[in-house]
Amino acid sequence: MTTSDTLRSALVDQLTANGTLTDPAWAKAATAVPRELFVGSYFVAIDGTVPTGYRTVRHGDPGWLEGVYTDQTLVTQLNGRTGPEDIGEHPATGAPSSSSTLPSLVLGMWQQLDTAAGHQVLEIGTGTGYSTALGAHCLGDGNVTSIEYDPRVAERAASALQAAGYAPRLIVGDGLGGDPDGGTFDRLIATCSVRYVPMAWLRQVRPGGRILVTLSGWSYASALALLDVTAPGEATGRFLPGHTSFMIARPHDRPPRPALALLPGEERASRIDPAKLDTWTGSWVAQLAAPSAERMGAGGQQILSDVATGSQARTMPDPEGGWTVVQRGPLRLWDQVETAIEAWQSAGEPHQDAFDVTVSAAGQRVRLGNEDGPGWDLPI
Ligand SMILES: C[S@@+](CC[C@H](N)C(=O)[O-])C[C@H]1O[C@@H](n2cnc3c(N)ncnc32)[C@H](O)[C@@H]1O
Repeated sequence: MTTSDTLRSALVDQLTANGTLTDPAWAKAATAVPRELFVGSYFVAIDGTVPTGYRTVRHGDPGWLEGVYTDQTLVTQLNGRTGPEDIGEHPATGAPSSSSTLPSLVLGMWQQLDTAAGHQVLEIGTGTGYSTALGAHCLGDGNVTSIEYDPRVAERAASALQAAGYAPRLIVGDGLGGDPDGGTFDRLIATCSVRYVPMAWLRQVRPGGRILVTLSGWSYASALALLDVTAPGEATGRFLPGHTSFMIARPHDRPPRPALALLPGEERASRIDPAKLDTWTGSWVAQLAAPSAERMGAGGQQILSDVATGSQARTMPDPEGGWTVVQRGPLRLWDQVETAIEAWQSAGEPHQDAFDVTVSAAGQRVRLGNEDGPGWDLPI
């Protein structure tokens, strides 16, 4: 047994023992696919740096292979252009734009997708090709199509898949448009997140099929949704337990904005504790309520800046207790967020798995609880 085989089998044992790997077919795939063929060199975040600095762990460095077989996401590109081999001794900074997602999440999602023999699967976000290889191993090359936006990333993944002995169908392009050749699929799995479900997916996944995708947004909150396609162009779904996040699909990313200037506005007392926006589901509820806003700050000092209208809201703690909110612009962002957070609090502050989502050409809506519960439209 090589060191790689030993480390891989230890990771499979760990993921089996902690309850991630429950399906023997996916355990077999995880045992067979050598992650190191897909990852090569990778970035590692340097603790305590703000903004986060990254150093490179080069292919073959001491600890490189152990890192590959640790259950962690390995960042392989920053800012849509910089790879680990492109930097020298100085740390790099920037937003991760491609990675090999942590094995527990990839394998967990393949299992949640609930595939069966013969299913045709469309994957969005090939990345390094590791998850594509797992899919090809389990379902067969001919049943997996994967789309990657970034041509350089796609080229590397194609070589790695070939080196590992897999030949799924690979497409370079914008996966939000679905298969450009108009294929039909039983399952769609996305390893990048979206602000709303692209209509092309709803047309290409046949009724009875499923879509597994993380819904995210410009305030960096996210939730993993499993949708059942009920008719051409229509789906209903629910959000799954856990804390899943993925980098946002490049065409859905927030447009660049100039440096933020905080301006005066209308002041009033806030009815909610702004720190609720720092919680996993609270931040997501706020994002649903103000979907074109970016959120900054923390605790009592939150800042919302609306990308579409320039509206702003910011909170500050009052010396005698409570918080003041200052709002300006055509949208009253804090009013929107406060109403949503209060509705969520009235329901007992449940996790996203208490919410559902309906999607059709008429619109996309997330709802809490039953049909009479509060709801929010996704920004299509
Ligand atoms: C988290 S990585 C994918 C991880 C991958 N599944 C793996 O196991 O290595 C997300 C990938 O989605 C790609 N991506 C972003 N937007 C996309 C889009 N609109 N269509 C297809 N791929 C996209 C990114 O370039 C990036 O490589």
